Amino acid sequence: MPADLPPGANRHRAWAPGRVNLIGDHTDYTGGLVLPMATDLGTLVEVEFSSEADELTFSSSHEPEPARFKLDGTPLGSKAPVWSAYLGAILAALRPPQGGHGRVTTTLPIGAGLASSAALELSLALALGFDGAGRDLALLAQAAEQAASGVPCGIMDQLACALGQVGHALAIDCHTLATTPVPVPKECEIIVVHSGTSRRLADTAYGERRQECQAIEELIGPLRQASYDALSAISDPRLKRRARHVVSENTRVGQAAAALGGSDLKAMGRLMTESHTSLSADFEVSTPELDHLVGWLNALPGVYGARLTGAGFGGCVVVLAQPGAVDLAAFKTLAWIVRPSSGARLLRWP
Ligand code: GLA
Repeated sequence: MPADLPPGANRHRAWAPGRVNLIGDHTDYTGGLVLPMATDLGTLVEVEFSSEADELTFSSSHEPEPARFKLDGTPLGSKAPVWSAYLGAILAALRPPQGGHGRVTTTLPIGAGLASSAALELSLALALGFDGAGRDLALLAQAAEQAASGVPCGIMDQLACALGQVGHALAIDCHTLATTPVPVPKECEIIVVHSGTSRRLADTAYGERRQECQAIEELIGPLRQASYDALSAISDPRLKRRARHVVSENTRVGQAAAALGGSDLKAMGRLMTESHTSLSADFEVSTPELDHLVGWLNALPGVYGARLTGAGFGGCVVVLAQPGAVDLAAFKTLAWIVRPSSGARLLRWP
């Protein structure tokens, strides 16, 4: 059971942030570099255990149907709601000794590229009693995500949401899993704007992109170590564009960590916008709505840069701007000012 609860306590409460990725998309699954930031938008899971209960039921602020499980994660009932697959995968990994009732409440938009599933996995694992290192929590949650969704996702989301630090983004080397906090300057605002399109990654070309990266690595070796010169060995123009994105994005992340840490917001913004162009033209994971938003935002005075964030195919744009430069009321879709937050943690029961 989690260490900081009084002995005998049979209810647990845990919160996990979502993440916005400032730069470094579609680099994590080839062991590259990423620079995400845990957000103050997140997910709360509260579980009350009962020694008599031999099943667990979860209700959610976002879902009409509760989800029911055996203690080993097997779903109960004829219609298992889609979101319950993530719960089932965490339960199967942790196998809590008692049943009971849980509630899930979130301020994150679902399927919008802000790691709502990672926040759910991490907060549930903590509420069920996971009591290990943040990195192990992230690896457990990544395995659950892959099992639940069938999507071969990388480690960025779970690691960012597990290890986030107040006031900082996190530079992550996805090969070694080393994380370096990078302070986010106070004299800027980070804004997230929803493009209006939500999606499940399982329904997108995410898996196809990952296969394309594997095909590239069979030709030129590990993408995380590849140089621009290596691209000349790739004759297929589509694979060459994909590789150019990954190689250039890894370079940009290194430059961006230095720019952000050194409060060079103009350089950081320029790199973010270059990243968007690369994701759109070379990696082809943008949409007309995301491209339009990025172009529109970049034309506003006081905006340093903007890009799609996360996997793309819909979801959100992240914007770096001077405080007050972007009026949230100008959007027909949801928009938030997000602040760098700490990672997943247990909370005291109120
Ligand atoms: C999703 C995945 C991550 C990462 C991003 C794209 O968020 O879960 O592992 O691959 O897409 O950068």
